[in-house]
Amino acid sequence: MASKRRRKSRTSRNAGSSVTESYQTIGANMLLGGVSLDSNLILVTSATSGEGKTSTVYNLGIVSAETGKNVLLVDADLRRPQLHRLFYIENEAGLSGIVGGDKWSECIVKSEIPHLYVMPSGPTHENPNAVLYSREFTNFLEHCCRQFDLVIIDSPPVLEVSDALILAPSVGGIVFVIDGKRTNRASARRAISALRQVNGRIIGGVLNRKPKGRYDYHIETLG
Ligand SMILES: Nc1ncnc2c1ncn2[C@@H]1O[C@H](COP(=O)(O)OP(=O)(O)O)[C@@H](O)[C@H]1O
Ligand SMILES: [Mg+2]
Repeated sequence: MASKRRRKSRTSRNAGSSVTESYQTIGANMLLGGVSLDSNLILVTSATSGEGKTSTVYNLGIVSAETGKNVLLVDADLRRPQLHRLFYIENEAGLSGIVGGDKWSECIVKSEIPHLYVMPSGPTHENPNAVLYSREFTNFLEHCCRQFDLVIIDSPPVLEVSDALILAPSVGGIVFVIDGKRTNRASARRAISALRQVNGRIIGGVLNRKPKGRYDYHIETLG
């Protein structure tokens, strides 16, 4: 397993804050069986871009790893990868390379946070769908399910490309992020309905950037 740390990763949450407590609640639900899941794979997605998917993956990853469980974050946004930036790690090798024969064990990076690991997206791939549909990717997810207690997958937005809909049926649950200031209700409904149509199971919602004067994040777990 690689260890390509360069600088301290960002900490966008403060211990003891309501934000951290919200993430802890959803993390605990995923890890401790508050919501019963078919598998330990969790997909984070949203209707459109910039709503806070990657930030949610990052924060959920930290609070889950802090419980002592081994957690892997997978950047499956092969179009606009960002997760590696939050951890200040390289993106030279990752998911996009495994279809070409790269060994996934050599792409996974141990973060500076105990129990937290990152699989970067790797360099841009000409056909992201081919990566997500590949046998190598399926094998990788199956392996990660066994190796880690929790696997959290970052993804592109549902209404813009089909990637999240490809991933949705293969995961135990989906956390759906909504930008409270920007996303309209119709878009969120359309995206949720598309995820349900492919048998995606939405287990939680993150309302990010609530209007001013109210707290910034709100997280709910659904049964
Ligand atoms: N609650 C928030 N308050 C302030 N900035 C935020 C918040 N959530 C996300 N951001 C910022 O908004 C941008 C988009 O967030 P990101 O998590 O990358 O969205 P997505 O992955 O859905 O495209 C990033 O620069 C991120 O740091
Ligand atoms: Mg993102």
